[in-house]
Parts: sequence; C-alpha cells; structure tokens
Amino acid sequence: MIRADDRPSRRTLLGAASAAVLTAGCSATSDQPPATPVAAQAIPPTGKYQAGITTPRTPQPNLLAIIADLPSSAVPPASAVGRLLAELGETIVALTTGTSARLLGLAPGDLTVTVGVGPRLVRMAGHTLPGATDLPPFPHEQIAPKARGGDVLLQLCATDPLVLSVAAAALLDRAGDRLQERWRQSARRGPAVPVADGLTAPRNQLGFVDGIVGPHTAEEQQRNLWLDGPAPVAGGTIAVLRRMELDLGRFAALSTAAQEAVMGRHRDSGIPLSGGVVADGPDLGAKTPDGRYVVPAGAHARRAHAAVVGVGLMLRRSYSIDEPAAGLLFVSFQNDLRTFTATLTHMGNGDALLPFTTTTASATFLIIPGFDPQRPLGSTLF
Ligand code: HEM
Repeated sequence: MIRADDRPSRRTLLGAASAAVLTAGCSATSDQPPATPVAAQAIPPTGKYQAGITTPRTPQPNLLAIIADLPSSAVPPASAVGRLLAELGETIVALTTGTSARLLGLAPGDLTVTVGVGPRLVRMAGHTLPGATDLPPFPHEQIAPKARGGDVLLQLCATDPLVLSVAAAALLDRAGDRLQERWRQSARRGPAVPVADGLTAPRNQLGFVDGIVGPHTAEEQQRNLWLDGPAPVAGGTIAVLRRMELDLGRFAALSTAAQEAVMGRHRDSGIPLSGGVVADGPDLGAKTPDGRYVVPAGAHARRAHAAVVGVGLMLRRSYSIDEPAAGLLFVSFQNDLRTFTATLTHMGNGDALLPFTTTTASATFLIIPGFDPQRPLGSTLF
C-alpha cells in the first residue's frame, strides 16, 4: 500500500536531515545538561554506499534483520523489482529523516536500513554478477529450509529498539503482497570496548571482544569491502548472515586458559595470546620455549586469519541473540563471497570454536549500491 505521507519532497527531506544532524550536534556540544535523553545522531541514508555498514562507525546497539521472498508463484519482471526497491528507498529516506507519519511520532535517531537482494534476484540482473551465487552447506548446520537463503534483506539498526519494529512494519506495508517475510531476527550488542582510535568492538556471549580485526581504514575498505565493479554493483558489497547458536554451558565449563586457547586472545583484554595491544593481530609464528604455538593450531584467531586462509579482510558486524537460543547473529560484509566461504571451510578443518556452535539460519545478499533521489535504490540493477 503506497501512502502519500511516505513521499516527502526532496526539500523536506534535506531540511529534516540537516535539522536532525544539527539537533544532535547542538545537544552534544551544549554546556547545559540535557533535560531529556539526547537523540542519537542521524545517519544520512543516501550517498555512494548504503548506511548501516561503515556508518555509524560504532554500530548501533540494536538490530532487526528481516529476510523476505518475492512470492514464488509469480516472479515479477525486473522492472517490477526495480519499482519495489525504489519505493523501499523512498520509505527509508522518509523513516530515517523523521518525515514519515509511520514513525507515529517516534524519533528515528540513528536508524539505518540496509537493503540487499539474494542470489535469485541478482541472477535476474546478470548470471555472473557478484552476489549471484548461493552459500554452500557447511559443517555444524541444522538449518530448516525456511531459514536458508531469501530474496530480500532488510537490516535495520538503531539505538532505540522500539523504532526498529515500527520502521520494519512501515517498510513491509509499503511492499504489501510483493514481499513475503521468511524469517526475522532481533539482536543486540553489549557496551563498546575501545580497540583503537575511534574503533570499538563489543563483547559476545562467550565473554570475548568480537570485531577487532577487519577492514577499518578507507584503503582496506576499498580493497576488501566495497565492490568497484561491474557498474551495476559498484558501491555495493556482499553480506553473509548466519544465526549461530552457542553452547554456553560447555564453553563456560572450560578454564579461562582453555577458553582463551579456543579463541587465541585473552578474554579480559582482547589482546592476542602472542602479546601486543588489543588492536594487534596475532603473531602466528610465536612459540613457547618448548616449541608449541603460543596461538594454538586450532585457535579461532588462527583458523579464521585472512593471511592463513589466503583471502581479504571481512567486516564483521555481528550482534548477540538470546532467542531462539543464546548465540550470535554473525554478519559480515566483503567484496568477494569467497572471503567468507574459504574462511569457514578452513575453520571447518580444526577450528576449536566451531564445535561450540550450531548454525540455524544462513543467507547471502548483494548489498545494493548507495542511492539518492537521482539514482533510486536498485536502479543500477533492475
Ligand atoms: C558464534 C560464532 C563466532 C564467534 C563467537 C566468533 C568470535 C570471534 C572472536 C572473539 C574473535 C577475535 C577478535 C576479533 O578479531 O574480532 C574472532 C575473530 C575472527 N572471526 Fe570469529 N566468531 C564466530 C564465527 C565466525 C565465523 C563464522 C567467521 C567466518 C567464517 C569468523 C571470522 C572471524 C575472523 C576473520 C576473525 C579475525 C581473525 C584474526 O585475523 O585474528 N568468525 N571471532
């Protein structure tokens, strides 16, 4: 159902966006203590890249991922897919800039909505495009057919958890019967632990800091994160989502030293077992006086290490979950699906962490290039 109030003029949008940024900026720099909680700073929804991947730099504490299909009975022509995505883009701008009546007066704060399309839709746009390949099965999976794959990803993130379901309902209503929800996952991140200048990472439910190593500089992001071509996907990236349940009881039964041997880092500080500071990667050659590796052969930090696997860096933006069971919604972004598949294949061959996990949902999506009023969401593909 298309609502007139989901379609603000460009001027309204730009005005609202700058007002939101200014308000947040003023509150942050004011000498007076705020009378009401300070709204989180607005994140621009438009630009070269979609929001919600590298912006905001510290991911918001709450996430709602919705995975949906186009009705399988009648797969629409590419032009209809393009229209749907363009309308979702309009709604995203209205929601994130606070001009949509569907927010019911809630402040969007730092809401971001990131849209991806699954392999079946990518193949409609081009069989050889990045994102056209499905994920293969891996060890330690128990995935119901409903929780594997999907045509469309809506990744919503915000500081205010309430705004997520309200914004998701607005997006799904805009899509109407053109999208059928398949599965959804709510998730959250614990407090940010400082890692390096401006870089933080949360702890996961195993107690370890998670999200340290990744493409964090602009140069690394150009090399490993963003697709620079072919033209329809330039400015996009490839997302992988895996819902991984964790056997917390069995992990907690290990001594702290044994837990650290599983991960390859110290639990309290996040520092690699080989030493240095938390932002450092592990020294994989370091040995104990009796000739054993300081970072054990099966340590996750070794098995998943990009140089050991022979792939680029992936940007991990994972969130913790507590339903249907405790675990991690693993979320990674990379410009080559092989970065993920080769890493998990290498982990399958001796990673000490994997036996504590059961993956119950799995999907990959091409994150569509960024958009703006001149270049609607999805217009480079459909
Ligand atoms: C429940 C499952 C998982 C948990 C709890 C977990 C946790 C962690 C932790 C605590 C670290 C060390 C700190 C850091 O660099 O962030 C780490 C590193 C890493 N993880 Fe995972 N991880 C999980 C699954 C995965 C999966 C499925 C992949 C990819 C296939 C992966 C890829 C990586 C990579 C690439 C690193 C950096 C390794 C390095 O260079 O030191 N992880 N993970």
